[in-house]
Amino acid sequence: MTVELKQQDNVAILWINNPPVNALSHQVRMGLKLGLDFATGAGARAIVIAGQGGTFIAGADIKEFGKPPKEPMLGELIDLIEACSLPVVAAIEGNTLGGGLEVALGCHYRITSASARMGLPEVSLGILPGAGGTQRLPRLIDAAEALTIVTSGTPINAEKAMAIGLVDEIAEGDCLDAAVALANKIADQPFEDKRLSSRTLSRSADTDKLFAEAEAAIIKRARGAIAPVKAAECVKAAFELPYLEGIAKERATFMELVISDQSKALRHIFFAERAAAKPPSDVSGKPHEVNSVGIIGGGTMGGGIAMTFAEAGIPVTIIEMSEEASKRGIAVMEKNWQRSAARGRISKDDVANRMALVSGSTSYDDLKDTDLIIEAVFETMAIKKEVFAKIDAVAKPDAVLASNTSYLDINEIAASTSRPRDVLGMHYFSPANIMRLLEIVRAKETGDDTLLTALAIAKRTRKNAVVAGVCHGFIGNRMLTPYARQAGLLLLEGASPEQIDNALTKFGFAMGVFSVGDLAGLDIGYKSRRDRKLEPHEVKVSLIADRLVEAGHLGQKSGSGYYSYNKETRAKSENPEATKVINEVREELQITPRNIEDKEIIERTQYSLINEGAHILGEHIAQRASDIDVVYIHGYGYPRWRGGPMHYGDNVGLKSVAAAVTRFAEGDGALFWKPAPLLLELAENEMSFADYDRQNR
Ligand code: 3HC
Repeated sequence: MTVELKQQDNVAILWINNPPVNALSHQVRMGLKLGLDFATGAGARAIVIAGQGGTFIAGADIKEFGKPPKEPMLGELIDLIEACSLPVVAAIEGNTLGGGLEVALGCHYRITSASARMGLPEVSLGILPGAGGTQRLPRLIDAAEALTIVTSGTPINAEKAMAIGLVDEIAEGDCLDAAVALANKIADQPFEDKRLSSRTLSRSADTDKLFAEAEAAIIKRARGAIAPVKAAECVKAAFELPYLEGIAKERATFMELVISDQSKALRHIFFAERAAAKPPSDVSGKPHEVNSVGIIGGGTMGGGIAMTFAEAGIPVTIIEMSEEASKRGIAVMEKNWQRSAARGRISKDDVANRMALVSGSTSYDDLKDTDLIIEAVFETMAIKKEVFAKIDAVAKPDAVLASNTSYLDINEIAASTSRPRDVLGMHYFSPANIMRLLEIVRAKETGDDTLLTALAIAKRTRKNAVVAGVCHGFIGNRMLTPYARQAGLLLLEGASPEQIDNALTKFGFAMGVFSVGDLAGLDIGYKSRRDRKLEPHEVKVSLIADRLVEAGHLGQKSGSGYYSYNKETRAKSENPEATKVINEVREELQITPRNIEDKEIIERTQYSLINEGAHILGEHIAQRASDIDVVYIHGYGYPRWRGGPMHYGDNVGLKSVAAAVTRFAEGDGALFWKPAPLLLELAENEMSFADYDRQNR
């Protein structure tokens, strides 16, 4: 039974049981409708709607989107709840999201457990609350708060919900018991005014100002995503239209959004994230318990990784070469947390609690009882092997030994230890405490239990894990090389850094490739190019970057790179010196600059990602195309609403992509483009990457 009916003290309880998150599937909607009918006819004085398993309702069932709708529709059901002749209390626990919160808004009273999370995350799926949420919420709480909840998609906690009047009470003790007690208390009281749809809203100078001011900010934050903008329009409509007309607008907008490419892309990535976090099908066994973590190296990367663990409540020891370095690393962490506290994101107690979990040491002996040890030292094989030899000497049997290398061969690192089955890669992205991506690199001999431990710890520390095989740069960085090369070639051929970056940000990227280079420091790529022998075509494509570094333009840290940066505001503008360097290099290489359209910039940069992704997939470095999408969205600022590079390729059509890649690879293009056999094969068979994933499930 997806909805059980219980009777307690003349109160009927409709108890939803649809694990894991009590999504509002057709069965649940039916169950609630039948339960409502039964309860009203069975002499109950009031009704409580509650969820089993510690969750009220996490929303509509996303798996039903795109399928023929089945009655009762959620909006109708909520109308029935609101119109019920008995007072209905929502017992809010755990995740109360989307349609779940809309059900609660249809109830006449809301009581919550202290640990519940409430929100309308629909915009993160490219839709908006489609069961009355945009119209009922502003009839209950302040307009600005309602607008934020609907357009940001970010859930709030019980304390905040109480403060803004979203709930009537925070339960002390068991939420269901408290809901029944409340139901008994209010059973005989009038509750006409608790039906939110009957409340009238009207425009005022204040609301006009609120919506006018919020619009630009919402558009900017959305970076090309349409749902938040449409959602704001619907909330505004609540102040301009009678309830039923507002609902009609919400419904029409929902229907338009749910079939949009953006919503399909966002739903794709929702399921892609969850698929990526699951153990590969050939893996069995159990993860080890992780109660302590050691990090070798307390620099930017090591410090960020250490913060991730302390933030998840896991004690972490940082090993540094000297006490000063260790103190310095920990001081940076403390400063970062204090900054978050000053901005109100965490409390002062949080800072103290996290700091209490961090310790520094210069002795590897302090890691002898540690469950997971992550190396985050300089990116050189010899140094990594030296560090792993020291870890190997002290670590307890079964400790998981991970390297945070971004490019190096984990098989070689593992083979240098006496326990290759305990070794894998855990590749974090900088700043590691902020970026959600974690590439877990499975080496040839990595044990199943080792891999499962890394996956489990990723979940516990709220990272989006993706399992990758061993190759130079794994999934993300390997794809970055051809992408950055295309940008470099476009620059040589006539586009400016601004034009290329603008085309990419217009496409939806958080930052363009040259702005990213300036942020990271152009000297980093310069050094790595000096460390290996480059082919002549590689030299050509990095000539501008090399000349900039040699002239002291290292990027933001030196005040100029591809762009000039204002010292105070950090605002960027054209760097005339860079323009001079670009022109000189073009002349030297006898390139006559041509006019390049944004369309070409997007095709060449995006198809280079897709083509390399197809190589990676064909070589089984990635398990699924959708894993690659997760990597690019969480590690490289790829627009989430485009669903990732592989999903974008499916949208363009692999036939077109393959034809363009084949054309790019003609003549000299062969130096930079090698069409991926898998891409050609899928295109030939009129298949998509999604088809490939389905076949290989
Ligand atoms: N519909 C269908 N399946 C859902 C779901 C939903 N709304 N929410 C979660 N699931 C599934 C997941 O796909 C996953 O399935 P799997 O085990 O087969 O991979 C399983 O439930 C567990 O989910 P998580 O791994 O995400 O579990 P967590 O405990 O980490 O997170 C959660 C729980 C916070 C509820 C998270 O799942 C989540 O954010 N869910 C989506 C919530 C949401 O967006 N709700 C709005 C839906 S749209 C809507 O309501 C429209 C309405 O306005 C008309």
